Amino acid sequence: MQIEIFDSGYKLACRAADIFEETVKANPSAVLGLATGASPVNTYKELIARYNAGRLSFAGVTTFNLDEYCDLPQNDKNSYYTFMKENLFDSVDVKPENIHIENGNAADFDAEAAAYDRAIEAAGGIDLQLLGIGTNGHIGFNEPADAFTDGTFRIRLTESTIKANSRYFTDSKMPEYALTMGIASIMHAKKILLIATGGAKAEAIFNTVKGPISPRCPASVLRLHRDAVLLLDTAAAALL
Ligand code: GLP
Repeated sequence: MQIEIFDSGYKLACRAADIFEETVKANPSAVLGLATGASPVNTYKELIARYNAGRLSFAGVTTFNLDEYCDLPQNDKNSYYTFMKENLFDSVDVKPENIHIENGNAADFDAEAAAYDRAIEAAGGIDLQLLGIGTNGHIGFNEPADAFTDGTFRIRLTESTIKANSRYFTDSKMPEYALTMGIASIMHAKKILLIATGGAKAEAIFNTVKGPISPRCPASVLRLHRDAVLLLDTAAAALL
């Protein structure tokens, strides 16, 4: 695992955008695994700036998002679908038909999850997977558990995640379930890029880098990946 520490969020976002730019320039039809949450927002801003400057095009890429809440209308302000439209998709030239986000309102969640895995496979697998990290070490919505998870599945969120994310649900109840890529789906990506900023992530980053490789801290599995890069700010790296 490669670790890089930055003294400014802007420099970190530029480094993350560099990795996206390299991937897309090397392969204009790259398959990108995308993430939501506060962590990737500045990276997406930088990617939009590079697109507007004519440096980068997403016209050939295919995207797969990590996760989506269940039983939340797709157009709800807190759905990850809305997040991606507002923070990236509406501002770049990615083709709508090449965008994939789990359907959190599917009638049959198991069928939806299996179809999502088949679509990733049919696209040739993920070239670059972007990740944030939960304060409990979760990646996507793979919560601490007794075993590492496999492909896409529906999960009941932990109390700590509900507490951490309910700050966004000011006028509605936060969903208790989500569909998420599993740990095996994430580990199949050719390259993985995890972004963590702020002191609230310091303990999760310590457990990821220095703790046991264990499903109790799902992100610790990234130490077994041959091309995983952690981009941290000084606050998130404070306990290393
Ligand atoms: C959510 C998402 C994760 C994300 C995490 C951290 O739970 N499912 O993919 O990494 O939150 O979010 P933030 O970057 O806002 O701290």
